[in-house]
Amino acid sequence: MKGTILAGGLATRLRPLTSVTNKHLLPVYNKPMIFYVLEAMQRAGIKQVLLTSSPDHNGDFANLLKTGDEFGLRLYYAVQQNPTGGIADGIALAEEFAGGEKLLVLLGDNIFNFNLRNTVSEFEKKEKGAVVFGIEMDTDSKQYGVVEINDDGKVLSIEEKPEKPKSRIAQTGIYMYDHRVFDFIRKLKPSARKQLEVTDLNNFYLQEGTLECKIIDWWIDAGTSYDELLRANMMVAKKVQEGELK
Ligand code: G1P
Repeated sequence: MKGTILAGGLATRLRPLTSVTNKHLLPVYNKPMIFYVLEAMQRAGIKQVLLTSSPDHNGDFANLLKTGDEFGLRLYYAVQQNPTGGIADGIALAEEFAGGEKLLVLLGDNIFNFNLRNTVSEFEKKEKGAVVFGIEMDTDSKQYGVVEINDDGKVLSIEEKPEKPKSRIAQTGIYMYDHRVFDFIRKLKPSARKQLEVTDLNNFYLQEGTLECKIIDWWIDAGTSYDELLRANMMVAKKVQEGELK
């Protein structure tokens, strides 16, 4: 199984912090934000990772991360020409790189400590399907994709930023896909915000009954607002001081 990290976008919600800097290079306590997903790839046992970013910042990532040796990975770099194309548009760039293998997708601003290794091993054995990772939110889930599951953990629906969320489970930026993901992406139509939505992609798997949802314990999307970025810094600082994170 291979990995791809999406680190593109314009990050307009974080300007002026992101006027000349890619959001994923901003500090989260003692490291640049992008380090956390690279470490998650390493913990998951993924050896080859394609990092996708916007044309203006690709060189910054290569300068910082180089071959990926520091993370025990081999890193490859791709440019997402349209930075507002959406998550599924970013995943599409990994088609040749994936070479028919399954793919672990991580959004570059997601911070979590869940070890994906067991789920990767289980998923590698499966013939087909996809996995999304959800988290129970204390606050409102409607700024995220919202996953509705029944008592057996079966996914009933996923809706992107619904007005009336059917559950408190937010869809994180952690996904696993079989090799057919690129065919599904080709069938997607841009949403109202003119993006190829990961939620629409996941709905293809939901309709065929091959979508699984795993619930994780803590996760933060550090790139959504100044407040979430600050919360991510404070949360990571606390976890480092308590020895839960390095
Ligand atoms: C995207 C997805 C959303 C998901 C979120 C997780 O939202 O569209 O379903 O819950 O990432 O970070 P966006 O950051 O594009 O608003």
